[in-house]
Amino acid sequence: MAELTVKEQLARKRVCLALDVPTVQDALGLVAELSDCVGTFKVGKQLHTAAGNEGVNIVEEIHNRGGDIFLDLKLHDTPNTVYEASKACAVKGVYIFNVHVAGGEAMCRKALEGAYAGARASGTEKPKVIGVTVLTSLSDEDLTVQNLGIDYDNLVMRRTELAVKWGLDGIVCPANKAGELERRFGSDFLYVTPGIAWAGKHGTGQKQLYTPNMAVRDCRNSILVLGSAITKAEDRRKTACEILKAMAEEL
Ligand code: C5P
Repeated sequence: MAELTVKEQLARKRVCLALDVPTVQDALGLVAELSDCVGTFKVGKQLHTAAGNEGVNIVEEIHNRGGDIFLDLKLHDTPNTVYEASKACAVKGVYIFNVHVAGGEAMCRKALEGAYAGARASGTEKPKVIGVTVLTSLSDEDLTVQNLGIDYDNLVMRRTELAVKWGLDGIVCPANKAGELERRFGSDFLYVTPGIAWAGKHGTGQKQLYTPNMAVRDCRNSILVLGSAITKAEDRRKTACEILKAMAEEL
């Protein structure tokens, strides 16, 4: 069990480990290994589907091992379908789930309603419902091809504005944009940020590397989604501890 300082415990709450693995066994292995350094575990479509195929309730299994879950299913469908799916997402252990802001106002509002209804039915707290602004895999060119008439950065900004207006609890946005968005939309809103790298405390000298310490320095109310930076490290626990230490220095 890692002994964490008070600040490292605060940092732990802001670390979300992406369980991008093909089997329940792989996922639960990572949870067992890292749950004292990681507050939330991200279950995406790959693991969620694999667990369904294996007949395992992955949310319950992770929650029983002391982890909270970010259910990264990126719902995007008709409002009624999203209402029902959101209701199903709002069970014990799910701290956050997400929808695409691109699905529109009615869909986002139905997601919130579904989250309240599901939480009531399962006797738990309503999970935070956050909106995906723009997938980080898209470029300005991709948006042009779709005739969206807006560039990537402005679309992130606009969709964040809409997510706030429609009552969502936060957004998913690229890590290097969270600071600017928080200055504009405030710290009551949650900024969940993928796209974070780690090359040791002193880095590699690469300027474009966006690190956990930069992320907490830039944005006060964010959760950092980390995947391969930890899972592909030679010593995963040591790396996770180093990341917490680096974040704690900024808190
Ligand atoms: O790259 P890494 O392994 O840290 O990715 C962790 C998670 O963050 C993945 O599930 C991926 O979908 C998401 N991600 C993202 N945008 C990036 C990098 C990763 O949405 N630029």
